[in-house]
Amino acid sequence: MNDRKLRWGILGAARVNERLLPAIVEASNSELVAIASRRLGAAAETLAKYAPRQQGVKTYDTLDALLDDPAVEAVYLPLANQEHAEWALQALRKGKHLLCEKPMALAVEDIEAIEAAARERQLTVMEGFMYRFHPQHARALELIRAGTLGEIRSVRATYSFTMRPARMYRIDRDAEHGGGAMWDIGCYAIHSLRMFFDDPPQAVTALAKYNEHGADTAMSGVVDFGGGRHAHFDFSFERARRSEYEIIGAKGGVKCHTVWQLPGDVPVVSWWTEDGWNCVEQMPPANHFTLEIEHFSDCALTGKPPALSLEDAKANCRLIVAALRSATLGRTEILA
Ligand SMILES: NC(=O)c1ccc[n+]([C@@H]2O[C@H](COP(=O)([O-])OP(=O)(O)OC[C@H]3O[C@@H](n4cnc5c(N)ncnc54)[C@H](OP(=O)(O)O)[C@@H]3O)[C@@H](O)[C@H]2O)c1
Repeated sequence: MNDRKLRWGILGAARVNERLLPAIVEASNSELVAIASRRLGAAAETLAKYAPRQQGVKTYDTLDALLDDPAVEAVYLPLANQEHAEWALQALRKGKHLLCEKPMALAVEDIEAIEAAARERQLTVMEGFMYRFHPQHARALELIRAGTLGEIRSVRATYSFTMRPARMYRIDRDAEHGGGAMWDIGCYAIHSLRMFFDDPPQAVTALAKYNEHGADTAMSGVVDFGGGRHAHFDFSFERARRSEYEIIGAKGGVKCHTVWQLPGDVPVVSWWTEDGWNCVEQMPPANHFTLEIEHFSDCALTGKPPALSLEDAKANCRLIVAALRSATLGRTEILA
């Protein structure tokens, strides 16, 4: 049995460390060895807040110092969206495996550059869509693959929460500069609706609301997967908290009620069929952050390809960019 642990460094004292830092500490095949922030003292503060009993973790006040630390084998990158591509490349050039928070980049060409850098050095790279590591999605997919719901004809993905004033920096710039709800939460809608169609999308039409900085704060749209198969998405920073999807087939439907599972939440998947099934399944709680870290560490340690490929990251980015263009230009964007 291989009991080696992957040695992680965290590049940025971001708020999301509230979830990911304990996950790295808890994951059976991982060890947290360093954290860096450009804000003086923020790395040590983050460590004290989210892993107060953790010993021997180095803290750095520059990102480069962490990347130069030979003890760090893998980097978790939770910087602001517009910084992902640049620091992803820096991490790879320093020979580090990379788990990059969503969205990996704001342009497909940037993901291609990341892919080339990783291939050259044989490093593991994955976009951090943690939700996919929760077993509730495997249950939805199982019902679909078993044919229980018939051919999938429609998907609806909905994500929202009300943005708190303290976090307004996320919407003080337009999408081209990494701001707005699409890059922040819309990317989950696009990613989760793509999970249920095997074919690439053919077209997308979207409507958005923008604020005075040009950031999208709410968006609704339809993705055409051909043959009358449509996926509907909506997301917003101005609506009550929701993170759900519903899939409708020719013979029935399935709904995942809470995609953004927090530790302690009870996952619920409900499904029905026209021939009389009507089930509400409460599934065992699972921490998708820890499962994501364990999966990534396993891949980096053994050389296995990660569950979320760079092809998937590029396809997601391509559809996001097309939806943003559709909303801006007020027309349907053709993809295929
Ligand atoms: N998977 C998930 O569940 C999840 C949840 C939330 C967010 N995210 C993703 O994770 C990434 C980080 O999101 P977040 O909301 O955690 O970001 P955040 O707290 O805004 O932090 C992002 C980075 O911005 C810099 N920063 C933050 N506050 C700052 C301040 N007051 N002054 C100067 N710089 C500051 C920090 O870099 P330095 O540390 O170097 O200063 C920090 O690491 C985003 O890409 C987001 O999409 C993922």
